[in-house]
Amino acid sequence: VLKDNTIIIVFGASGDLAKKKTFPALFTLLRQDFLPRDVKIVGYARTKMDKEEFHKRITSYIKNPNDDPEIAAKIEKFKSISTYVPGDYDDGAAFDNLNQYLEEIESSYQSKERHRLFYLALPPSVFIPVCKNVKEHCYIKKNGINRIIIEKPFGKDLESARELLGTVKKYWSEDETFRIDHYLGKEMVKNLLVLRFANIALSAAWDKNSVSNVQITFKEPFGTEGRGGYFDEFGIIRDVLQNHLLQVLSVLAMERPVSFSAEDIRDEKVKVLRAIPPIEPKDTLLGQYVSANGKPGYLDDDTVPRNSVCPTYAATTLWIHNPRWEGVPFILKAGKALNEAKVEVRIQFKEVTQGIFSDISRNELVIRIQPSEAVYLKINAKTPGLQTRAMPTEMDLTYKRRFLHAKIPEAYEALILDALNGDHSNFVRHDELDVAWKIFTPILHWIDGLNGQRPRPVPYPYGSRGPKELEAFVEKYGFKRA
Ligand code: BG6
Repeated sequence: VLKDNTIIIVFGASGDLAKKKTFPALFTLLRQDFLPRDVKIVGYARTKMDKEEFHKRITSYIKNPNDDPEIAAKIEKFKSISTYVPGDYDDGAAFDNLNQYLEEIESSYQSKERHRLFYLALPPSVFIPVCKNVKEHCYIKKNGINRIIIEKPFGKDLESARELLGTVKKYWSEDETFRIDHYLGKEMVKNLLVLRFANIALSAAWDKNSVSNVQITFKEPFGTEGRGGYFDEFGIIRDVLQNHLLQVLSVLAMERPVSFSAEDIRDEKVKVLRAIPPIEPKDTLLGQYVSANGKPGYLDDDTVPRNSVCPTYAATTLWIHNPRWEGVPFILKAGKALNEAKVEVRIQFKEVTQGIFSDISRNELVIRIQPSEAVYLKINAKTPGLQTRAMPTEMDLTYKRRFLHAKIPEAYEALILDALNGDHSNFVRHDELDVAWKIFTPILHWIDGLNGQRPRPVPYPYGSRGPKELEAFVEKYGFKRA
């Protein structure tokens, strides 16, 4: 339930994530009247700045191209409820100061009830001190609910993740903790549950008897420019596959939950993930982009170590050992500096029995997560006319065309609202993260050279479709191009 008397405290308020995602999402929620009545937003970071500077920063990504007076008025309202407190992250006294400030705000409430939502938009280095200091200095002990939102990276492998999450758990209960994987907030990822479980025509074909192979693809048209330092430490698998793509896979492959409650959904997600053995090097293709078309290569970035073999592209195949999916390859692919921006799921079905038709295309169900949300089914239909010939065509649900005026929410809008409502369905549970790391840790250790020489990624040109070896890779797992 949405609570009145809530303060949202954003740590890392001067950083990039807060500026680009957190504050714009909070603004949209305010604009659409989704925030609790009398909500206040307090930014906290090390940077010293006054209120004006802070307001400039938090509104810099909010657009009002036509000077719409309604939006302009809402921006003013947004500023009027937002303030800023500077302070260090490892200094208890600074958090006492913050707490005092929050109490001042709360002293004006009519009732005793008060709630605090702490949003940590922070780099990993200060993550633990903030979890600890907030708990020790800013936690409401009576008449209120405390919640904390945290974001990846949650460690670098199973061991470090366990250590990190174990420490967080010392201060924050599972119920209070909201671990963001922003892919779970995307409209089309949320739609997977409905598509799967509200359509018998789809659910009946959702298994190894009908499905040949599944691909989950993430493509970005830009490199790691400016983020090379961070990226080189993590690589594409930790950045995208182990979290975003694996989350999509788990919703795609899980059994039907008993209900749509957070625990029922997450129980099923954990169960399917537990049926996946660790990924093997033989099922993995690694790439790194090189300079092309006037664009710099990964190694041309000054913040990247000279001979780095960090993969900026990875394709890897996962196997689910359960009766539904035995033998069906789930291919996850992600890359930076490719030819386009696209995230999609492509389920390729098996061939129909040959005989009456020859040379017929396979059905494919494509769920385009972004850009331009769409679901389309590739089917065969009779070529219109007097001859009987089949041709491949599409049943197409492109959102822009079908839902003309629908506003598709940003992932962060949906997730912040869920956290305010105390709904954990679209957040990652502790055991879910643990099993995700179990699947990926051996391959990551192999890539990191922990068991020998580090494997060399194959080069691919900036702006290309990825490594040229990709085509043979997906064919190996039974994918057939139409
Ligand atoms: C982040 C990764 O988690 O997701 C980035 O760290 C990536 O490298 C981003 O660009 C992609 O998110 P979206 O919502 O733009 O697809």
